[in-house]
Amino acid sequence: MILKNFIVFEGIDGAGTSTQIEILKKRPDAGRFFFTTEPTDSETGKFLRKMLKGDVELDARTSAFLFAADRNEHLYGKGGTNCGVVAKAESGKIVVSDRYLFSSLTYQSVTCGDELPRRLNESFPLPEILFFFDIDPEISLKRVLGRGETEIYEKLDFQKATAGRYRAVISEYEKMNTGMKIVRLDASKPVSEIAEIISGKLKTEN
Ligand code: TYD
Repeated sequence: MILKNFIVFEGIDGAGTSTQIEILKKRPDAGRFFFTTEPTDSETGKFLRKMLKGDVELDARTSAFLFAADRNEHLYGKGGTNCGVVAKAESGKIVVSDRYLFSSLTYQSVTCGDELPRRLNESFPLPEILFFFDIDPEISLKRVLGRGETEIYEKLDFQKATAGRYRAVISEYEKMNTGMKIVRLDASKPVSEIAEIISGKLKTEN
């Protein structure tokens, strides 16, 4: 099922999704949008951030369950200021999320195999548009390391594995005919060029 007015940005760490969302936030018509992220700012999301920082150690499958639980809260709950996006999208806001279930199908498939993340995420709605920020992990990791503090997944081998899974998962969806529009972006291009492509796609779709 496609959730209308729902747009998702995905890519490995340092691919530039957050930068593009910051650009959208400065548009004169930014009020039409509702900007959100996963993990959310609900208690589940905050706990996941602790795991990502390495402050809490979890079995890989536990993380997969928690990311899915946080996603359910994101879609349907009131647990955080950025939760309840289904209601927001249905009320006519264009919801733009930095990460969604494709992150679980890639990152968690690397840590605990693809069966569990697939099963946990199969009933969630798909976005109307998925922007996939494709980038060489060597380039993106340099950006991440340049920011200072890093998270447990931000290591070259892991990012390479995740990049491979992203490409495979996106190709699978391209073949599936779900009705979700997929836009592949060369995320090594200049920020302004990518911003223009995104803005053009948003114009034709909304
Ligand atoms: P990120 O989106 O990069 O946020 P920030 O820039 O604030 O660090 O970090 C979220 C991390 O969580 C990223 O490494 C991907 C990971 N993640 C998963 O492993 N599974 C998921 O389902 C989601 C939503 C994120």
